[in-house]
Amino acid sequence: MLSLRLKTIENMVDPGKIVADIGTDHALLPVELVLSGKIKRAYAVDNKNGPFLRAQQYIQASGCEAMIEAMLADGLSTVPEDANCWIIAGMGFDTAILILDQRPDVQVNQQLIVQVNHGVDNMRKYLMNNGWQIIDERIIFEAHYYQIIKALKVKSVVRLKSEDIDFGPLLRKEKNSVFTEYWKFQIQKLQKIVNQLERGSKRGQQLQKQINSINNMLNG
Ligand SMILES: C[S@@+](CC[C@H](N)C(=O)[O-])C[C@H]1O[C@@H](n2cnc3c(N)ncnc32)[C@H](O)[C@@H]1O
Repeated sequence: MLSLRLKTIENMVDPGKIVADIGTDHALLPVELVLSGKIKRAYAVDNKNGPFLRAQQYIQASGCEAMIEAMLADGLSTVPEDANCWIIAGMGFDTAILILDQRPDVQVNQQLIVQVNHGVDNMRKYLMNNGWQIIDERIIFEAHYYQIIKALKVKSVVRLKSEDIDFGPLLRKEKNSVFTEYWKFQIQKLQKIVNQLERGSKRGQQLQKQINSINNMLNG
C-alpha cells in the first residue's frame, strides 16, 4: 500500500498519462498507477544500482514489465520524449532542479509533479522562472508536512506574487486545515526562537516580521 504522500501524488496524475518517475526507488508509484488502471505506460528511473534493481524486481513481481520500463539513468537525461508527466518526489530542491535543468527544451503542455523535502518556496520561484504554471497544490501530514506541486509547461506564465511563492498560490487561497496547522506550527517554532533572542535584536525583528506576515496571510 502506498504512503499518504505517494497516494496523494498518485491522485494528482491525470488518467492516461505516460509517467516518468524520476528517483523511483522501489517503483511503488508507477506500479500502483498501472495496476489501478489509471495509466498504461511508465518509466521508472533511478541513477543508483540498488534502487534500480529493487524497482526492476518489484515491476516483475507485480507483472507490470510490459508496461513499465525500469531505467538506470541520471534524472531526465535519457527519458523518452513520449513521457508527458514527469514525477520528481522525495528529493531536495537542489537535486530536483539539477534534474529539471537537464531538459531545458520542455514541450508546452508537459506536466510535472514535484515534491521537494526542503525549499518548496524556491521550487515555486524556479517553476515560475522556467515557464511552469502551478495548476494544483496539496499539503499533507505524515510524520512531516509535505507540499506537492503539479505544474504545466506553458508559453507564458502568470507571475507569482511573493506571498504565492512563500505560501503557494492555490494553497493560500484554499487554506485547508492541514495548511493552517502547518503555518501555526511554523509560527510556534519562529516564536520560540524570537523568545530566546535579545529583545530588539535585528534577527528577532526579522523573524517577528515573518510571523506577522504568516498571521496576516492566515487571517486575510
Ligand atoms: C528518497 S528516494 C525517493 C523515492 C520516491 N521518489 C519517493 O518519493 O518515495 C530518492 C531516490 O532518488 C534517486 N535519485 C537521486 N538523484 C537522482 C538522479 N539524478 N536521477 C535518478 N534518480 C535519482 C535515489 O537513488 C533514490 O532512490
